Amino acid sequence: MDQSFDKPYSSWTSRPLDKKPTGLGIAHSKIILMGEHAVVYDHPAIAIPFKTCQVQVKVQPSAFSYTTIDCPYYKGRFEQAPDHLNNLKMALQLTLDSKQLPKPPLHIEILSEIPQERGMGSSAAVSVALIRAVCDFYGKTINDYHLRMITNEAEVIAHQSTSGIDTLVTSSNRSIIYRKSQQARDFDLDLKAYLVVADSGQIGQTKLAVNHVAQLRQSKANFVNGAMETIGSFVRQAFLAIRKKDPFELGRLMTYNHYYLNQLGVSNASLDHIVNAAWLAGALGAKLTGGGMGGCVIALAKDQAHAQMIAESMEEAGAEKTWLLNLSKEEQAKESHHD
Ligand code: PMV
Repeated sequence: MDQSFDKPYSSWTSRPLDKKPTGLGIAHSKIILMGEHAVVYDHPAIAIPFKTCQVQVKVQPSAFSYTTIDCPYYKGRFEQAPDHLNNLKMALQLTLDSKQLPKPPLHIEILSEIPQERGMGSSAAVSVALIRAVCDFYGKTINDYHLRMITNEAEVIAHQSTSGIDTLVTSSNRSIIYRKSQQARDFDLDLKAYLVVADSGQIGQTKLAVNHVAQLRQSKANFVNGAMETIGSFVRQAFLAIRKKDPFELGRLMTYNHYYLNQLGVSNASLDHIVNAAWLAGALGAKLTGGGMGGCVIALAKDQAHAQMIAESMEEAGAEKTWLLNLSKEEQAKESHHD
C-alpha cells in the first residue's frame, strides 16, 4: 500500500493531481446471469462481476470541521445527507469503529458509472469502494470477510433484506453460483463469447417483483413452485455448459430462463421488446437480469462483431445504453495489457 499519500491516481478522472493525503477505493457492478427470483426460494443462481461499470471513491481530509460528501445526488455535509445515503453513513461509521480509526472530518467523493436501481448492485459497490477508500486513506488493509460484513450491514439499510449476492460479487473478481442454504461457490467464467448488457432506462422494481411472485405463489402454488424448480434446473445446466465452455448451450438456457420469468410476470413489454430484438439479431440467448419489471436485459453473442450488432438492435428497441463484456479470460488479459 502506498503510504506516501502522493500516489498518481491515474484512473481518477482527468483532474490534476493534488498533494492532499488521499485514499482510493474501487468496486465493480454485478450481473445475475441466471436464476433470479428462483434464488429467493433456495434454488441456485449465477452472478458475475461486471467490471465494465465501476465506482471509484476518493477520501481526503475535509476542508471544514465536518465530513462532506460529493456524489451525483448530493453535495454537502454528510450528516445532513438525504436518507438514501444512510447506507454509506453506516459503512463509514462501521469501518472507522471496527478498525478503531481516528475520526477527523473527511471529504468523500464518489464517481460512479453504475446506473442506480438497475439490478447492477450499485449500492453494494459504492459501499465496497467507500470502505476500501477509507482503509486506504489510513493505510490499513481489510480482509474480504470484514469488508463483506460491513457492506452487508449497509445493504440491509439500503434494501431492508438482502440475499448477499450483490455484496459477494461486487467485492470479488470471481463469478459465483449461489444458493441461500449453502455456501456460495466461486468460479472463473471463461467462454469464447461476449455478454451484452442493455439498460432499459426504466428503474428495476425488485421489491415489487419479489412480492408479486410471492403473491402468485399463494394463489398458484404448483405453477410457481414448478417454474422455480425448472429455473433451478436451467441454472445447474448452465453451470455445466460454462464448465464445458459451450456458449451456445448457455445462450439457449438463458432464453428459456427469460420465458419462465415472463410467465411469472416479472418482465414487462419494454424488456420483452429488447429481449426479442436481441433474439432477432441472432443472440445465442437473451433474458432480463435482476428483479425485473424494469432494469437491464442481457444477451449472449458469439464474438465482438456479433455483440456490437446485437447491442445496436437492443438500442433500436429502446435500450438507453449498452455495454459489452468479453467473457474470454485470455482476451480480457490481452485487453488489460493494451490499456
Ligand atoms: O435486482 P437485483 O439485482 O437486486 O436482483 C434481485 C434478485 C432477486 O432474486 C429477484 C431477489 C434476491 O434477493 O435474490
